[in-house]
Amino acid sequence: MPTEKPLRRAVVTGGAGAIGSVLVRALLGQGVQVTVVDNLSSGRLSNLGEASADPGFRFLQADLLDPARIGPAFRGASEVWHLAANADIRRGSVDPRMDFDQGVRATLHVLEAVRAEKIPWIGFSSSSVVYGLPTVFPTPESYGPLLPQSQYGANKLASEALISAFVHSYGLRAALFRFANIVGPAMSHGIVYDLLRKLEKDASRLEVLGDGRQVKSYLATEDCVAGLLAARERGEQPLGVYNLGSSDQISAGEIAQKVVAALGGRARIEFTGGERGWVGDVPRQLLATDRARALGWKPQYTSAQAVDRSITALRGELGL
Ligand SMILES: NC(=O)c1ccc[n+]([C@@H]2O[C@H](COP(=O)([O-])OP(=O)(O)OC[C@H]3O[C@@H](n4cnc5c(N)ncnc54)[C@H](O)[C@@H]3O)[C@@H](O)[C@H]2O)c1
Repeated sequence: MPTEKPLRRAVVTGGAGAIGSVLVRALLGQGVQVTVVDNLSSGRLSNLGEASADPGFRFLQADLLDPARIGPAFRGASEVWHLAANADIRRGSVDPRMDFDQGVRATLHVLEAVRAEKIPWIGFSSSSVVYGLPTVFPTPESYGPLLPQSQYGANKLASEALISAFVHSYGLRAALFRFANIVGPAMSHGIVYDLLRKLEKDASRLEVLGDGRQVKSYLATEDCVAGLLAARERGEQPLGVYNLGSSDQISAGEIAQKVVAALGGRARIEFTGGERGWVGDVPRQLLATDRARALGWKPQYTSAQAVDRSITALRGELGL
């Protein structure tokens, strides 16, 4: 007799954001019922497009800092994808409490709901910035000590630690994902978005933070989401840690040249100077992705291709 697959119900925090919206569409495509919890601070319902009309889709506009309001959304879920966060790393150096609230406090509220509803699995969007200024490239998940340079990174690392403690205290299973720079459509932050917005204001010059030699790996949103799903299906138990990034890099100066060329090549590029673009910037980033690749995952796009695709998509969205 054919056995019926158990019904999957997912909660996606930050599901109206750039990465969350692509994940939501992928989950619905797999027949998973999805509830998005999002306060729409940087996300937009329009990012979800036709997904919001799917019969398996629910949306709760709520803030993770309001546990009483978000609690019911977790009832009956079989998995939680915790993606909501302040995604603007630079703001944290001005207002450290903001990253603590949107990072550690919000993650604790999600974990309390997961525990209360006995949800067996959580996936968490952490970041390569937990490695601080690593001395090993590509940097493996086993690298340490982990000494983040930004409030954002500190809160990602503390959230990873909280999830680990919940796994070991309450029989939960989890996957922690350390993303490289993710680029694609619907971004409301990040270098491609920032550069396009600057050119929108003044098409004659383009200010680039730092000396332009910061060199990092960029990953297309679709490739990132494919990595998330691979770890959900085949990841290590009870707790897996996965770097997700492409295996090459591109510099901030090269990205600026691409953005200028895409807009007709007239703007003069001006670097603000210094090895770091801002307080907490990590000038060099390249992740070892052997663990994710052992699950059968590999990115389709190089860093340069991912950046090109993001420029095309964001230009269209900004009407440039
Ligand atoms: N984009 C990157 O390069 C990158 C790199 C490393 C890690 N990450 C992480 O991936 C996740 C998703 O990033 P993204 O690029 O899609 O960002 P995003 O800003 O597009 O998405 C974040 C979503 O969370 C929502 N949100 C924020 N605070 C909330 C709160 N308190 N309550 C409810 N909803 C809230 C926002 O409205 C938004 O829809 C974040 O956790 C981010 O830190 C992103």
